[in-house]
Amino acid sequence: SRISLIGAPIDSGQRNLGCLMGPAAYRVAGIDRLLADLGHEVRDLGDLTPGVLPHASCDNPAVDQLDETLGWTKVLRHRVSEVLAGGRMPITLGGDHSLALGSVAGAAEHATRAGRPLFLLWLDAHSDFHTPMTTVSGNLHGTPVAYIAGRSGFDAFPPFPAPIPAERICLFGIRSVDAAEHEALLRYDIAMNDMRVLDERGIVAPLREFLARVRAANGLLHVSLDVDFLDPSIAPAVGTTVPGGATFREAHLVCELLHESGLMTSLDLVELNPFLDERGRTAKLMVDLVGSLMGKKVFDRPTRSFH
Ligand code: ARG
Ligand code: MN
Ligand code: MN
Ligand code: MN
Repeated sequence: SRISLIGAPIDSGQRNLGCLMGPAAYRVAGIDRLLADLGHEVRDLGDLTPGVLPHASCDNPAVDQLDETLGWTKVLRHRVSEVLAGGRMPITLGGDHSLALGSVAGAAEHATRAGRPLFLLWLDAHSDFHTPMTTVSGNLHGTPVAYIAGRSGFDAFPPFPAPIPAERICLFGIRSVDAAEHEALLRYDIAMNDMRVLDERGIVAPLREFLARVRAANGLLHVSLDVDFLDPSIAPAVGTTVPGGATFREAHLVCELLHESGLMTSLDLVELNPFLDERGRTAKLMVDLVGSLMGKKVFDRPTRSFH
């Protein structure tokens, strides 16, 4: 593929300083070299800046750093949409998960232009289904799925270009849902692959079901990978660890299945906080997973034998 790396050193969606070092850590861990070795054509667009910040306000006084997050949303939406329009795959290097307010908006803008439906795979411990009105922590990284699904309460934000219908959203790896999110999720028909489901069914069947729907609709697929999808024992460098996450092998298998599907058109890597890492192991693991997502295999058998 032709890939564009977009550095998004965003720290405004939560209060554990350090996510802004994420893009640098991915580069130190060799993300560009890895992708080039796999035969991809890689362009690194460097780090974005949010530019002049707007002044916005919000009725919920708990909301933190709204202006910064709005600034990032605008610049990322533009850049991701532009990269997709150029026929390339954007990989956004975060930065906390609030960046998805912009990256997925950019993907949605492109999908509308291309006349194709956009699907969303959210690999995360959290459902991130708060609105700025319901968040208790005030951390806007807990809100992107609600914005993307078209929930109201985002008055300070530009309207989401084409809200993704619930049937096209798949939450995967979930094990932390706040009360207000839970109440709202019950009203939406979003595929909820929480750990209860994945423990019983395994990861392969639910993921294949979702990918089959993407394929049948000739859809575009945005994948948003939160570091806390992974178990904290293998990925400590994240501010919001939750026990019971995806294992090393499960995570690689998810990535390999995504690669074999050939469906992913844009990707976010979010919530890496290198300040919390142990000798770079989380950054290295995330880059390894990108390898599996982009075609690295132990043994290169014809993929047909798996279907
Ligand atoms: N639900 C919690 C909150 O709103 C945690 C959100 C964590 N989100 C994330 N992208 N890590 O604060
Ligand atoms: Mn901050
Ligand atoms: Mn998240
Ligand atoms: Mn999370």
